[in-house]
Amino acid sequence: MATGAAVGAAGGVAGGAALASALGTSLPDGASAGLGGSAASAGGAAGGTAGGAGAGGVPGSASLVGSGGLGAAVAATPAAGRQPGVDTPPGAHAVYRAFALRAGTDATRLRGWLALLGDDIERLMSGRPVLGDVEPELGEAPASLTITLALGREAVRRAGVSAPAWLAPLPSYKIDALEERWGEADVLLQLTCDDPLTLAHADRVLQRESAPFATLAWVQEGFRYARGARADGTTMRNLFGQVDGTSNPAPGSEEFDAIVYRSGDGPFGAGSTSLVLRRIAMDLDTWDEVDRSAREDAVGRTLKDGGPITGGAEADEVDLAAEQGGWPVVADFAHVRRARPAAAGEKIYRRGFNYNNPGASGSERAGLLFVSFQADPVKQFHPIQARLAELDMLNEWTTPVGSCVFWVPPASSRSAADGGFPGDVLFA
Ligand code: HEM
Repeated sequence: MATGAAVGAAGGVAGGAALASALGTSLPDGASAGLGGSAASAGGAAGGTAGGAGAGGVPGSASLVGSGGLGAAVAATPAAGRQPGVDTPPGAHAVYRAFALRAGTDATRLRGWLALLGDDIERLMSGRPVLGDVEPELGEAPASLTITLALGREAVRRAGVSAPAWLAPLPSYKIDALEERWGEADVLLQLTCDDPLTLAHADRVLQRESAPFATLAWVQEGFRYARGARADGTTMRNLFGQVDGTSNPAPGSEEFDAIVYRSGDGPFGAGSTSLVLRRIAMDLDTWDEVDRSAREDAVGRTLKDGGPITGGAEADEVDLAAEQGGWPVVADFAHVRRARPAAAGEKIYRRGFNYNNPGASGSERAGLLFVSFQADPVKQFHPIQARLAELDMLNEWTTPVGSCVFWVPPASSRSAADGGFPGDVLFA
């Protein structure tokens, strides 16, 4: 206990000082009080944890990882220069927390907030308590936690930088029934994790620390298979029972990098990408009335294993030219026929999550947090969505109720201890 307190106090002070100097600016009142006031005591708890573990701050994590069996419970590492949560495996649970900047959050305060978040993100993802964490035990097991920071147009403007034209609301589509409460926001945190408790803690910490700088715009929660329920890498199913995510560029491939990441210099260049989040309600009641073959025809892939209805296994391409009795096997209205790229470059990386509200009805009941990453949403996402809005059998049971676009900055070239944070390129 004495050792833990000593290490903790030292850790708390050192951490606070490093962060303060990294910020190069005094934090706003609420935040600095939070840091200064409780860092020492939280540092005690933190130090105790770190001391107990002997290394790394998570008791037992080394042996778990070493055994290999739970290796997947440790956050996967993104490629250099990129934030996690894009090319890393999605966790089982997701929280998308969106903020509206307070009127007084100018460039200096924005920078201070992002630096604070950057420090928190590094700590939470490695199982170390944030400064001032009053429940450090809740964060001990990162469980593949990834936290991605994304910014909307207004946040870029507040930083004093002019935003690229693509960082703007998407055009409206005739299938849309958009609700403002799921609309554009200034700052987005995407958290994904295999453990809902770790996730709840991380989300709560980030919410608390953000309060002096921004108000809540909305929160959207989603899920995929629980880790361990299926073999790792199994394509997820959505709440219509469909295998969803088959035809997707593979992270780590050259194709993935070309589709997802931007290139060139400057803040909106290499290592950065765009995130489109569309909240799409799925009508489970009317879907229930459709027979199995009609459901498969609506997409062009089977429900059993996601293989093409023209034959083959999940990984096989759907044969759009196949005919039976003079008629195309894959109908004109089939989702995959319509979603297929019509021109080079019209590709996106889909990485969505299901949402389910068992007690709700109508568009609240269930759906898909459709999330896609692409270098340019106007050139890549828009043409696909425009085509699907014109004709897609799935429109019969699905309704977009929310839509927003964000810029995902590159990872910082510096650690938080050295003053780096996602989005620091805006302040260079
Ligand atoms: C609730 C709404 C949606 C559902 C239930 C859904 C479901 C599916 C399913 C089951 C597949 C086939 C398996 C796969 O390759 O993943 C698929 C493919 C695809 N979807 Fe969707 N989808 C939805 C919305 C969208 C939206 C909004 C877009 C983009 C604007 C989109 C773009 C695509 C693309 C690009 C493919 C791959 C097509 C191919 O090349 O084969 N989907 N979707």
